[in-house]
Amino acid sequence: MFLFDDRGDPMAYEQYWKKMDDKCKVVITGSQLMSYLSDPRKVCWFLEAELEEAIKKLHRVVGNAVVDGRHIVVGTGSTQLYQAALYALTTPGGPQPISVVCAAPYYSQYEQETDYLRSGLYKWAGDAYAFDKEEPYIEVVTSPNNPDGSIRKAVVNSTSNEGKHIYDLAYYWPQYTAITAAADYDIMSFTFSKSTGHAGSRIGWSIVKDEEIARKMTNFIEYSSIGVSKDSQHRAATIMGVIYNSYQDIKSDSTENFFEFGHRLMAERWSRLREVVAMNGFFSLPKFPREFCLFNGDYTESYPAFAWLKINGDIEDCEKFLKENKILSRGGKRFGSDPRFARVSMLSREDVFENFLNRLLTIKGIRNGH
Ligand SMILES: Cc1ncc(COP(=O)(O)O)c(C=O)c1O
Repeated sequence: MFLFDDRGDPMAYEQYWKKMDDKCKVVITGSQLMSYLSDPRKVCWFLEAELEEAIKKLHRVVGNAVVDGRHIVVGTGSTQLYQAALYALTTPGGPQPISVVCAAPYYSQYEQETDYLRSGLYKWAGDAYAFDKEEPYIEVVTSPNNPDGSIRKAVVNSTSNEGKHIYDLAYYWPQYTAITAAADYDIMSFTFSKSTGHAGSRIGWSIVKDEEIARKMTNFIEYSSIGVSKDSQHRAATIMGVIYNSYQDIKSDSTENFFEFGHRLMAERWSRLREVVAMNGFFSLPKFPREFCLFNGDYTESYPAFAWLKINGDIEDCEKFLKENKILSRGGKRFGSDPRFARVSMLSREDVFENFLNRLLTIKGIRNGH
């Protein structure tokens, strides 16, 4: 049986939230949250005030993004916000679609999300390192990066000065990496899915400097879904509240704070994975520098949400090799990279992660047996 999902469903945090079930309970009565509107005076008129407040408080507690004087646009996941940002940065349309690039290896969904409607406004143009045209472009910067966990900056080297940027900061949270500064870019997207693990609520948010861009992103969401579920917005606000209140509550009970739990869990998983990888000798993993985390007040390595495995020796297809050993992964090609790489989720449920490690160990047995 294949126990592994190649998608990166963030179920690792379920064990934490189980302990917090009561604190996170949300009750919505029959007559509440019925309107399309939240606040018609706001640029993002379907953003619930409670969620906006919670997002800002969470970022202030963590220190990972500047929120004061910025617009918040809520989306059905950061997936919808990515499309909203492309739309906002390319309307009105020019004579030809604008190229959208991201440094390889890049998050595999960008290509699909950019091209699936064959937009006349923008088109996927692949690896940002290879982009050398002197024409307008949009560069997506994912930091920490999915799939390889690296910390990134924009890479397109253009003199045309016509580049625009979307910063996807889905993994810029203290369980994955050191918080080294409050990010302050024109468009920064975050997601409930990877920050707390509540992917099923489908809540993402963008922090946007320019009002006109925030308005166009809001327009896109209006045209595609007339807003974002208020039920989900309230659940997200409640859960964010549980997190930031736990950092302000000095007489806090013995329960670990969420980001401490997440950081400890990810550090343990990475340490166990590195041990197994060192034992079986088939693969190598990226190394990450130790950085001072302003949030934890200590030096830490990165513990990414995905392991970017490279197969050593003359095997050419890492995904295929893993599949033969009953481990599902996503192969390097999907990320604009080499098939000798494959991405495996580090956020699976505990039993699935255990099985993954055991199956990696079995590979060692097979090799020794031959
Ligand atoms: C880098 C990155 N951006 C965006 C997303 C999409 O997240 P959401 O669940 O908010 O749509 C993911 C999900 O895996 C991701 O890895």
